[in-house]
Amino acid sequence: MTTRILFVCLGNICRSPSAEGVTRALAGDRDVRFDSAGTSGWHVGEPPYGPMRTSASRRGYDLDPLRARQFEREDFAAFDLIIAMDDQNLADIEALRPAGDKTPVHLFTDFAPDRGASEVPDPYYTRDFDGTLDLVEDCARGLLKSFD
Ligand code: 4NP
Repeated sequence: MTTRILFVCLGNICRSPSAEGVTRALAGDRDVRFDSAGTSGWHVGEPPYGPMRTSASRRGYDLDPLRARQFEREDFAAFDLIIAMDDQNLADIEALRPAGDKTPVHLFTDFAPDRGASEVPDPYYTRDFDGTLDLVEDCARGLLKSFD
């Protein structure tokens, strides 16, 4: 059965669309579907942030078709696994969890324990788009191992 995974960050224009695009590209023919969303509605309808798209594109990941949307309560029913980029995302997601819902919510960094990072740094602020992509690639590889 297809596993549905949702990546969540704050704006849905840097980290979570990168996580979505990178993991989709690395997933090959595994039976997994991906989406991403932001806890805020600040950038709804926008493509990923230009510098993020440029850095991703240099590695062969095309983020251009993606559009930002806001995370909503219904996502708990629509996905099998929700993955947050940082602790604040995690708290904002949990605040919307419907009573009785058991959908697992994890930090993306849980899947790359060797990196010693507890959060995916936000390149919108750090400007280190490649550093974020390095970590996202490692987290994606770790996540996909659980589907082998
Ligand atoms: P993201 O980064 O959560 O990784 O998409 C951000 C993008 C934009 C803003 C904040 C974070 N913003 O304040 O507009």
